[in-house]
Amino acid sequence: MDIIRVEGGHALGGTVSVSGAKNSALKLMAATLLTCGRTTLTNVPDIADVHVMGKVLKGIGAKIDVIDEHTLEIDTSAVDSWEAPYELVAQMRASTAVMGPLLGRFGRAKIAMPGGCNLGARKIDLHILGLETLGVSFDTDHGYIHARATEGLVGSSVALDFPSVGATENLIMAAVRAKGETIIDNAACEPEITDLATMLNEMGACVRGAGTPVVTIEGVSELHPVEHRVIGDRIEAGTFLVAGALMADAAGIEVVGFNPTHLGMVLKKLELMGVSYRRCDHGVRIRRASAFEPVDIQTLPYPGFPTDMQAQVMILSALARGGSVITENIFENRFMFASELVRMGANIRIESHHAVIHGVGNLSGAQVVAPDLRGGAALVVAGLVAEGTTEVSSIHHIDRGYEHFTEKLAALGAAVARTTVPDPVEG
Ligand code: UD1
Repeated sequence: MDIIRVEGGHALGGTVSVSGAKNSALKLMAATLLTCGRTTLTNVPDIADVHVMGKVLKGIGAKIDVIDEHTLEIDTSAVDSWEAPYELVAQMRASTAVMGPLLGRFGRAKIAMPGGCNLGARKIDLHILGLETLGVSFDTDHGYIHARATEGLVGSSVALDFPSVGATENLIMAAVRAKGETIIDNAACEPEITDLATMLNEMGACVRGAGTPVVTIEGVSELHPVEHRVIGDRIEAGTFLVAGALMADAAGIEVVGFNPTHLGMVLKKLELMGVSYRRCDHGVRIRRASAFEPVDIQTLPYPGFPTDMQAQVMILSALARGGSVITENIFENRFMFASELVRMGANIRIESHHAVIHGVGNLSGAQVVAPDLRGGAALVVAGLVAEGTTEVSSIHHIDRGYEHFTEKLAALGAAVARTTVPDPVEG
């Protein structure tokens, strides 16, 4: 099996460029189904989740040409099916993002029901309730959801109980081809939704208010293929910023290729923790902090503190001068990382959806298991500051969303490498 081995204590310097945003790229790939022709996406990250979405699209008849490592040309002219099969949805829940576009183009979709994942139950009831308002009827059998808009999609007013990212995206992608106007109230405001709306508008759609809680969509009868560049990955950027706050040399490290505005709340919390940074061209230069102040953090929908940065920032709290509380409000089961960090010497107590953290003087390298994508990356980052060697296993989670993670860290000066070791279970 592959592991990532990190030797702690090496200072970081230089510049790291983040890849295109995973959470944008996946939805933009799905959105190409709304048109008939060749759409070009640039700045697409070369990560496992993008490969899974590629398989979903190919499975329904799209043709994908890889122009270069980060450019995909997706031809949707021959799409002749509307099914996202179980083996792919089970690998990646975001496969359900094809439901809205398939309904928009064909008025039907057959999607395997996503089960839970290691972040909890992760339901799609809000996707379904919203699409029902647009005239879609749903049946389930043998683990599949059959969605049909027999009379066509009709624009309507949808109020989401919670600003779900996935539900907002599926609704927007269906509504761009509905008859008349759709208003989504309490929509998610994440930058990836704005990126999706930007591409849809370039394709000829009429989406207004994306990035705010009220999104208005005027349906159009046809969309055309375009070329679109995926925004930079704010979460990958945030992960490197935490690495810099822990281990940058006196000159600091520069993290570029993303819009710092997309990390507003993270930067604010870093500042409160005593980390100094400044914005530079296309990114942020960050310095190592001599000490971290404790701060309380709650994860919230954008522009609140992102749940996808919770694990990384917990490392700083674990080393802070005092007690911090991190409250997880988005996912029910997102503290598995904490028990791995405890194995590295952190003092963390989990009480329901709160992590109560008492800062310790240092972390020590250990063998740890990546619990999920962000938690896995955070363990590698914790290894950068820990005394001795850290070995992170189950790194397939990290591969889902971080392109060349070890190479990028090594280029900054980290002593980190991916290596193959015998699987202890298989002997
Ligand atoms: C997306 C991101 C993920 C990020 C999350 C929150 C992608 C591929 N993933 O996930 O990285 O952590 O946003 O910013 O873009 N919920 C329901 N019913 C629904 C939909 C959601 O109860 O129909 C619940 C979920 O179980 C979860 C919460 O709402 O507890 C947030 O989910 P949502 O905003 O939909 O996140 P995702 O789109 O799955």
